[in-house]
Amino acid sequence: MGEFVVRGGRRLEGTIRVHGAKNAALPIMAASVLASSPVTLEGVPRLRDVDVMIQVLTALGAVVTWSGTALTIDPTDIHAYVIPQELMQKMRASIFVIGPLLARLGHAVAIQPGGCSIGDRPIDIHIYGLSQLGAEVTEDEMGTQLHAPELKAGTVHLSYPSVGATENLMMAAARIPGETRIRNAAMEPEIVDLAQFLEKMGATVRGAGTSDIRIVGQRELVGVTHTIIPDRVEAATFALAAAATGGHVTLENCIAEHLPGLTGRLRDLGVEVKEHEGDLVEITAPDRYRTTPISLHTGPYPGFATDMQAQFMAFLLKVPGVHIISERVFENRLGHARELRRMGAQIVADQRVALIYGGKALHGAEVRALDLRAGAALVIAGLAADGETVIEDREVIERGYQDLDVRLQQLGADMESR
Ligand code: UD1
Repeated sequence: MGEFVVRGGRRLEGTIRVHGAKNAALPIMAASVLASSPVTLEGVPRLRDVDVMIQVLTALGAVVTWSGTALTIDPTDIHAYVIPQELMQKMRASIFVIGPLLARLGHAVAIQPGGCSIGDRPIDIHIYGLSQLGAEVTEDEMGTQLHAPELKAGTVHLSYPSVGATENLMMAAARIPGETRIRNAAMEPEIVDLAQFLEKMGATVRGAGTSDIRIVGQRELVGVTHTIIPDRVEAATFALAAAATGGHVTLENCIAEHLPGLTGRLRDLGVEVKEHEGDLVEITAPDRYRTTPISLHTGPYPGFATDMQAQFMAFLLKVPGVHIISERVFENRLGHARELRRMGAQIVADQRVALIYGGKALHGAEVRALDLRAGAALVIAGLAADGETVIEDREVIERGYQDLDVRLQQLGADMESR
């Protein structure tokens, strides 16, 4: 495994372009299984998780090719319905193909997937939802077998607005004639992007972005061209890196409305957040932060995104005051507190709640990226600390950030990978 080396103390300055969203690209890539002709996706980030999804689709029989920044997926010959176990364990998002596979081939096998080490992350809501649409569910030594010669439209009420389960059900429903309704659905921007993609392919989707989604599917969906929305988590990471280093950074390809919890809080703390025409957002940190205690909890969209929580904690270390962060989406997503403490951070945390004593000096240290966003938090802390920080397991961070070192160098960071 490699490392990132960050020498802190420099203000970030300049302009950076936000890439396409990993969490929109992965389900949309999976949804291409539903099409009867090739799909072309623009703006897919070149990430390790995207590579795993390409391997999953290839193993199922699709032909996937890059051409510059466009990814073409030809699903015409998809015939297999078992995802190789090692791929399923490499990435949780491989679960996204079970809905489309079931709708197209009448079979799918779900194995408890891998992913970040932030909690158990069961798949019961996905399975329950698909069973409500007529899938027969049995367990055997391979995993959970789903079987449905014909899925049936119906109403599914989710016990929690799971992003992945909502997406799986939307994809399956896109191929079922009749109206399927998903109640207590997730409302994330990535759901809206998937809905737009399914609509282009021929399904009718109403209510995406609300908790009540209605889909009328078509037996045949056609391949289309689609551009992935900007990555709001990547945008938040750069904004927080700018804010933590006293910087001034303009984000290109950034949709400010996708950052509801973040921009308001940054403004409360004296960071200037200016929204310009053409999806430009300009972040200017104040000369110094005043003592301002902050309390936040994560939640489903439009709540504060769990995927921005670790980076926000790293930033809060620069703001004087006693702050509280409560993680309510995943049961074990505060592991970065321990790594940040190695850098001099004063944080008390249990599995769900962290108390952060902000405004104290940070120093470089040897730390480890425990999961993707925890790793991004360590990069932010490293940029804001005195001295050298070595972040081990940089590959974990590269699951979700493309060329992070090179792009931060362009903003003046002293950072390299080795
Ligand atoms: C997606 C995102 C991930 C983000 C998360 C929450 C992708 C590829 N990943 O993950 O980056 O952190 O949304 O915004 O889009 N749960 C169950 N049973 C299930 C499904 C989920 O109990 O069947 C629980 C999970 O353990 C977790 C919570 O629901 O505690 C939220 O999970 P979910 O919204 O499904 O997240 P993902 O779709 O896996």
